[in-house]
Amino acid sequence: MGRFPREPGIRIAPSLLAADFSQLRDQVALVEDGGADLLHLDVMDGHFVPNISYGVPVIEHLRPHTGLFFDAHLMIEEPKRYAEMFAKAGCDLITFHAEVTETPEDVIEHIRGLGVNVGISINPTTPVSAIERVLPDLDLVLVMSIWPGFGGQKFMPEVLPKIEQLRGMLRPDQRLEIDGGINQDTIALAVAAGVDTLVAGSAIFRRPDPVNAMRDLRELAEAAAN
Ligand code: DX5
Ligand code: ZN
Repeated sequence: MGRFPREPGIRIAPSLLAADFSQLRDQVALVEDGGADLLHLDVMDGHFVPNISYGVPVIEHLRPHTGLFFDAHLMIEEPKRYAEMFAKAGCDLITFHAEVTETPEDVIEHIRGLGVNVGISINPTTPVSAIERVLPDLDLVLVMSIWPGFGGQKFMPEVLPKIEQLRGMLRPDQRLEIDGGINQDTIALAVAAGVDTLVAGSAIFRRPDPVNAMRDLRELAEAAAN
């Protein structure tokens, strides 16, 4: 199990969604040995997003084979109903979507009670004001830079002002993550706007050499951070 990255600094989170699902354990080992900081796990229910990915059994079977921090991104309509299953499966952080609830404080409290870290995610058109009141209670905020549901989409630069806004509102121990279309061409823009945790699926797993791709992404991000 991983420890939550409280200290400021660039973190790379490969998204398993773009991996070869016939070799998941090896794909995880590849990015773990190659220096990944978190493993981003995309869970889709076919309701909140028009796609179905994978769920608890896959996560719990991978858990004994890696020490990576499990960063679960729940794109599901009822996070409160299922969070316990994901915590028991070994997720270290559970992120749910702001759009699925009118009472995010309830969901946060519930997840926190399971003994894991808590994050909230906002879709490209959801304003920061929708989560402003719960910001102090979170470990991480995840800004979507694509419409969730599928990997391999084009980065939406129009979300960058929200990143700048959030950066000014979060404490140094809270992580600001971006997800969608992050690659060698877009990563610097996201970091310059203020994110520290970068999800990348296709730009890592769909490259001939995922470890090299991850290293390049980190170098570009670190250069943009300084
Ligand atoms: C999509 C997921 C993303 C996805 C990103 O809904 O939340 O994590 O894997 O894929 P890329 O990096 O290919 O845009
Ligand atoms: Zn994701």
